[in-house]
Parts: sequence; C-alpha cells; structure tokens
Amino acid sequence: MSGEPTLFELEGERHPAPGGGCGGTGLPGVAGLDWNALYDELNARGVALTPPLLSREQCEELAGAFDRPGLFRSSVVMRRHGFGRGTYRYFAHAGTPDLVRALREELYPGLAWMANQWAPLLGERTFPPVLDELLAECAAQGQLRPTPLLLRYGPGDYATLHQDVYGELVFPLQIAFMLNEPDTDFTGGESVFVERRPRAQSRAVVVRPRLGQGVIFPVRHRPVRGDGGVRRCAVQHGTGEVLSGRRNVLGVIFHNAR
Ligand SMILES: [Fe+2]
Repeated sequence: MSGEPTLFELEGERHPAPGGGCGGTGLPGVAGLDWNALYDELNARGVALTPPLLSREQCEELAGAFDRPGLFRSSVVMRRHGFGRGTYRYFAHAGTPDLVRALREELYPGLAWMANQWAPLLGERTFPPVLDELLAECAAQGQLRPTPLLLRYGPGDYATLHQDVYGELVFPLQIAFMLNEPDTDFTGGESVFVERRPRAQSRAVVVRPRLGQGVIFPVRHRPVRGDGGVRRCAVQHGTGEVLSGRRNVLGVIFHNAR
C-alpha cells in the first residue's frame, strides 16, 4: 500500500488531548472544550463548531472594535482586490483587544494537538505546544505582522473562495468567531467550505455558526480517508451573500504574515 497511512491511523490511537486554557481571561468556555470530540467532528465533517465561547457582550465589544481605526494595521476593501464584497481589517497588535490575544493563545494548544496528529498523515511538520514558540519561529522567517482580523459584511457582501496563507510558515488550522446571531441580526452569509478531492468531484460544506460560536477549519488542506488510505484534500473557504443586516466575524489565524 505504498506506505500510505491507513484509515485506522486517522480514527484510532491518538495522543491525549490537552487540558483547557489557563482561565481568568473571561473565556471560561475554552477551558471546558472537548478537544477529542472537536477532532472527531473535524475529521468527519471537514470543519468543527465549538459551543459558544463568547457572550453577546464580548461579541458586541469585538464587533464595535471595527469602528476604532487606531486598532488596525490595514483595512481591505474586498471589491478592489476581487475578493468579493465587504471590508476586513487586520489588528495592528494581536494583543489588542485583550480578548483577541486570549483567544489566540488559549485555543492554540488544542489546535496544535490536532495539527500534530494530522502531521504524519499529511507528511508534514509538527508544531510547538504554545503560541509564543510558533510566533518566534514566524519572526525568525520574517513573518512579523499579526493576522487576527475583523470582517464586516452588509447586504450584498460575500467572500470568494480562498486560503489564508501569509508566508512560508503556515499553521494548518484556523478559527472564525461569529459575532452576530443569524436570522436575528442578519440573513444569508453562510460560511462555505469547498474540498477538492483528488480524482473526484468537489464537496461543499455549509455551516451557520450562532453568536459566539467558533468554526475550526483547515487553512490549506486536511487528510481525508478514501479507498486505499488517507489522502490530502485541498480546502478553500468563503462566505455566501449576506441578504440583510450586518454580519461581523473575528478571524483568528495563528501564523503571522510576512
Ligand atoms: Fe479567510
């Protein structure tokens, strides 16, 4: 079987999942996350939805940060680049607001645990257990600019399918937090993921996270079981058109940008 990993390796033995975050940061939900269940969902479905990790107050605080230009290093009007329609802004400092730093730092160990189980299946490197070490590696490669971002979509806005790669060093998973309540605050605006499978037709996954929920998804690809073993499957993500209201999202990417 040409040394390809078997189905058993994807679903069977695994390293113990990490414990929760350090707490005390206003993110009690992170400490209680069931990483084993999230890993199973990610492998079965291609994406994994966390329980709500942010309160409505925290979501409003984050969405409101969009209107404070001093917090951002750049603002991208998507239509100008053919990325769709809508605007997103990269935070100037990943530590401001504090909630963004806390989410990135506390979610990283669990996501690194997932990434490190994928690594042998994809024939790729493993990642350090804490975010600071990843960011030090990024810095050594000239990837110094923070990547967490806020996106704001209104009626008619959407995002074309893409991948968030910002340099040589790519941490393989990312998470996006929904800061509004679908059907109440906005309609449309589904989160869309498309998997390109080798020698097969593409598969779309559509999710509608509720307020405060995070969607964990692959940055570039994931291992998918098939006849004869596990194969690498490219994944792109985008957003369906918002029909009404306003849709704010916090994107947390773990590698920094060149
Ligand atoms: Fe993206």
